[in-house]
Amino acid sequence: MSENPPRTELMGSSEFTNHHLGRTLEVRNLVKSFKVGSESFGKAERIKAVDDVSLFVPAGTTMGLVGESGSGKSTIARLICRLLEPDSGQVLVDGDEVTAGTKIPKGYARKVQIVFQDPTASLNPRWKVRRLVAEGIRVHGLRSRSETKERVAELVSLVGLPEHALDRYPHEFSGGQRQRIAIARALAVEPEVLVLDEPVSALDVSVQAQILVLLQELQAASGLTYLLIAHDLAVVERFCDEVAVIESGRIVEAGDPEIIHSRPEHPYTKALVEAHPVPDPHERTMYVHAQDKAEVAE
Ligand SMILES: Nc1ncnc2c1ncn2[C@@H]1O[C@H](COP(=O)(O)OP(=O)(O)OP(=O)(O)O)[C@@H](O)[C@H]1O
Ligand SMILES: [Mg+2]
Repeated sequence: MSENPPRTELMGSSEFTNHHLGRTLEVRNLVKSFKVGSESFGKAERIKAVDDVSLFVPAGTTMGLVGESGSGKSTIARLICRLLEPDSGQVLVDGDEVTAGTKIPKGYARKVQIVFQDPTASLNPRWKVRRLVAEGIRVHGLRSRSETKERVAELVSLVGLPEHALDRYPHEFSGGQRQRIAIARALAVEPEVLVLDEPVSALDVSVQAQILVLLQELQAASGLTYLLIAHDLAVVERFCDEVAVIESGRIVEAGDPEIIHSRPEHPYTKALVEAHPVPDPHERTMYVHAQDKAEVAE
């Protein structure tokens, strides 16, 4: 088991640094409803999963989107990534509307990347890391073959995995390491916005901190814009510039994450904070300062 190389050095030598890739992300009055029940039984009805949601995420910053299960977080993520079409409302990246018409704007699938809670589902188990990370570069025709090889090795280092990870399969890694692979895949296509849909919810608490610290370092180096989705405010508070709290498809409170956590105003936010307390201030400090010690099994 070996320690990771310090990523700040890797970032310093990387072309990833100081590109200020991030662009503003905005959603305006988004609405999405789903039909539930069966018409043949006369019980079909529509539920509004997303009900008039507006968010503005400045370039290079992180907006946290927090709410309990079923509150509409993933639906918003899928609307932003155009995996779903809204009933009404707009999504804008860098001020350009990307919901207009039915045709997905050229390059959009590359510019806005999503990282899911369960990386296993998005990683082909028969592919080695080298191919998994290279896939997007190849599909989008971003680099020559030799450049791709170099870039893939660089990305794997950047996310804190050792070189020998390149020739391994997803099942040879821990959950946290698999999430690093998923992040490398997302970064490979040089995105402008990352939508992170509960990227740490399935991981152990110590590993959660490692992945969030990694994402924070990557943002500091690249200026990427993040929408960070979570059901636990305490987990993401430290990593967000602003937080929006969502209940039943509607944003009920938004603002400074620390203020919202320590002095929630809306009853739903209060309940959310009480449901996930971090009782011991020492534990919280340890969490915040957790060092990244990801390792790959030999
Ligand atoms: N394809 C679909 N068809 C019907 N209903 C759906 C569909 N997708 C989501 N829903 C419903 O929309 C609501 C919001 O779901 P969504 O997955 O966005 O919630 P979430 O906040 O991401 O929850 P979780 O924390 O469990 O991931 C839920 O009531 C869900 O059942
Ligand atoms: Mg979800």
